[in-house]
Amino acid sequence: MNDEQRSRLIEAAQSAVTGAYAPYSRFRVGAALLAVSGEIYTGCNIENASFAATICAERVAIYKAVSEGVTQFEAIAIASDSHEPCPPCGICRQVMVEFSPDMKVLMIGNNAVIERSASDLLPSTFQSHYFAASEDV
Ligand code: THU
Repeated sequence: MNDEQRSRLIEAAQSAVTGAYAPYSRFRVGAALLAVSGEIYTGCNIENASFAATICAERVAIYKAVSEGVTQFEAIAIASDSHEPCPPCGICRQVMVEFSPDMKVLMIGNNAVIERSASDLLPSTFQSHYFAASEDV
């Protein structure tokens, strides 16, 4: 990711916040995902009266890409209503490492952007080889 892509990704995440459907928490989140191809996919959080049906902005962006056959990611930027950088939840971390453990995660605050890799945010990940191995038991 070059500097221009980084800036575009951050701006796309900030714009995506406005699409949020968050009448229950009133906490809006936007995400912008940079695929290895250079394409950007955006997402926002979408809540539901049945709270468990809520989905985070990060997963909306990732699932949009995956639904189009795109599974290799370079980075994801996350913006929100908080002035502090918003870290992704555990479920979103698990989804990130499923596809691209080395992807960068940019957490955007008013005064700083914190950058980590997905695998740094979720060490000791549950992976498919555990249940693949169980077939031998
Ligand atoms: N949320 C996200 O969209 N991404 C995160 O990383 C954390 C939480 C959303 C889910 C819910 O709509 C609201 O923020 C409050 O949890």
